[in-house]
Order: sequence, then structure tokens, then C-alpha cells
Amino acid sequence: MHANIFAHRGASKDAPENTMAAFHLAYEQGADGIETDVHLTKDHIPVLMHDERINRTTNGAGYIKDYTLGQLQELNAGSWFSPEFARSRIISLEEFLEWIQDKPLYLNIELKNNNIDYNQLEHIVYDRILDYHLLHRTTLSTFNPTSVRRLKYLNRTIGVALLTSKRYKNIVTAAKDLGANAIHIKYRLLNQLLVDQCHQENIAIRVFTVNKPQHMLRSFSMGCNGIFTDVPEMAVRCRNQL
Ligand code: G3P
Ligand code: CA
Repeated sequence: MHANIFAHRGASKDAPENTMAAFHLAYEQGADGIETDVHLTKDHIPVLMHDERINRTTNGAGYIKDYTLGQLQELNAGSWFSPEFARSRIISLEEFLEWIQDKPLYLNIELKNNNIDYNQLEHIVYDRILDYHLLHRTTLSTFNPTSVRRLKYLNRTIGVALLTSKRYKNIVTAAKDLGANAIHIKYRLLNQLLVDQCHQENIAIRVFTVNKPQHMLRSFSMGCNGIFTDVPEMAVRCRNQL
């Protein structure tokens, strides 16, 4: 089985995470898909950022939810990474969908609603994906089990993944009960028994964040359906060795 390589926040080792520069690079490096994170602005527009706050990856401060898209797009989202990316800015989900629409890439959009449960986030993101006819190659993921249920309630055919970095008593049963199609787990939780159990239950299993060649090879040889990596170029090389 061929495991898919998702560029985690884009090719985020070589370009500032969740910016167009990181997405372009991921595509050039041969990733099969892009993983990105979404929050809602004050004017209810989905934007791509990992943290709830803008402090770490821009020259601004405070919460995304307290700024409009226009205000956020004034910020510099690249210089924190390197001066050559000074022109990078925060992008909306819509800009990302516009870009990816004509490229042969999968999408994994993580709803960042585990700390702030943004009102209507599922609905807003789902509608945008429909607008761009991208539902068939999109997986929506979240650490928030209630949000998995909400997504499945919107449309039971959406590909939804339950994310976890903690050990569940039985993650596969939890995912099945929620109606999830996949689990996305932290690499240290990976074991062969879990992979086999997922496959028996027709649940996909993908692993984050896999940046070392030996971990990539182990994930691939165990039969994982996908990995998330900051270094897609390295992952493509590893997969070619098998
Ligand atoms: O979706 C996998 C991974 O991105 C989840 O963790 O913190 O990098 O968003 P995080
Ligand atoms: Ca993520």
C-alpha cells in the first residue's frame, strides 16, 4: 500500500509554516497532500495559522479571533522565520483553496477548535470546500471529538479524522463511535497492533509529525496510510527506497 505524504503546515522546515511559500515548496518537493490549520477571524473568515495567537509567527500580538482578516493581512508572517520571507502574510482558507484547486494534491484541513470552540467553524469550512468542489480529496481533522460528530452531522460522507497526541483506552473504538474515517496520531503512539486494528475496522491511520528517515521508513513499512512531515522531500526519498 502506498502511504501518502502530507506536508505539515506546508514544507515548514524550509519556509514559514502555513504560508503560500510553504505550500508552493511542498508541491515542488513532491508531497501528495498539504496539511494546514484553520481558525476564525473576528469577521468569521477562516484563516490558516497553527496557534490561536499571532505572537509566534507574525509581528503582531493577540488572538486571531480579535482581528479582522484585513487587519491580519497587514502583518508580516515570514520574517520570524527568515528575512527572505518578509513578504509572506497570513492567508485565508479561500486563497488556499483557490491555489490548490487545479493541483493534484490532497488536503488535510485541521480545525483548531480544541482550545477555542469557534462558533460555526465546521459549517463555514465545509461550505468553502463545497464552493471549490474539493470535498472528494479533503480530510477534515480535529482534536475535538464533539467537532467530529458535528462534521459527520453536516454530511456523513465527509472524510473526518480524530486527532490525538494522547493514549486513548481504545482509540479505534472511539473513532468508530464518533463516525470518524481516520485517526491521526502522534508518532510515539504508533505500533503494529494499532495499525492492524485500524485496517480491520476500515479506519485509516496517519502519523504526525515524522521528520526522521528511520521513523518515516518504520511508518511506511507498518502500513500507515499517511504521514505528516515538515520535510516532504526527505519523505519522498525514503518512500522511493522501499
Ligand atoms: O494534523 C497533524 C498535526 O498537525 C497535529 O498537531 O499541533 O502540529 O497541529 P499540530
Ligand atoms: Ca495541524
